[in-house]
Amino acid sequence: MSMQLGEDSTVKVGADVTTTNTCIVNAAEGSSVVFGDDVMIASQNQFRGHDGHPIFDVATGKRINPSKDIIIGNHVWFGAQAIALAGTKIGDGSVIGFGSIVTGKIPNNCIAVGSPARVIRKNIAWERPHLSFVAPPYKPDASTVVKSEKYWSRTEEPVKVMSRTERQIRDMRRRAWHLRRRFLNKN
Ligand SMILES: CC(C)(COP(=O)(O)OP(=O)(O)OC[C@H]1O[C@@H](n2cnc3c(N)ncnc32)[C@H](O)[C@@H]1OP(=O)(O)O)[C@@H](O)C(=O)NCCC(=O)NCCS
Repeated sequence: MSMQLGEDSTVKVGADVTTTNTCIVNAAEGSSVVFGDDVMIASQNQFRGHDGHPIFDVATGKRINPSKDIIIGNHVWFGAQAIALAGTKIGDGSVIGFGSIVTGKIPNNCIAVGSPARVIRKNIAWERPHLSFVAPPYKPDASTVVKSEKYWSRTEEPVKVMSRTERQIRDMRRRAWHLRRRFLNKN
């Protein structure tokens, strides 16, 4: 874990937190990055509680990108190349997909993917033993694994899980909005 800490900032790492390689953590301006117990950080992950440089509104002079805490709950699995930005808060037992960028709140026992990361599945639990090292090789259900019972919970907060069609409609709307903005800027 490679850490860069500004004044009055802290990083707390719980018990049994693991990383495979290259995990960058930074915090500044009194903010904190907190990892709960049994967090599994894959590889090439970043936890960035600040943007590195200040950005201001030219009209008011007001800072628009203050540093914020990052709170990773217990038994969270961060997929490879996934990133948490300032203000991220992830509930216990959740999974962040490969290459995702988390910018806000993800409830417990969910899978969240994409940029910005959105919940695609709730009421899930995951287990640590690596699939290529443990028998039996195929696990049709949880009867063949040792369950970490305390993390087998239902997602507590009401969370809207978008269907594929809903996500496609949202993406089409976003593209239309960007096209319209480009068109208006040109004319
Ligand atoms: C998230 C993950 C666990 C799959 O979860 P899942 O519930 O089985 O998801 P599915 O494969 O059914 O995909 C559901 C949707 O999410 C999308 N999706 C899945 N993973 C995604 C990712 N990482 N980023 C963006 N979108 C993703 C799929 O394209 C699919 O979209 P669609 O419905 O529009 O087709 C897996 O894709 C992943 O990212 N694993 C991390 C692997 C890793 O980093 N391992 C490191 C070793 S520790």
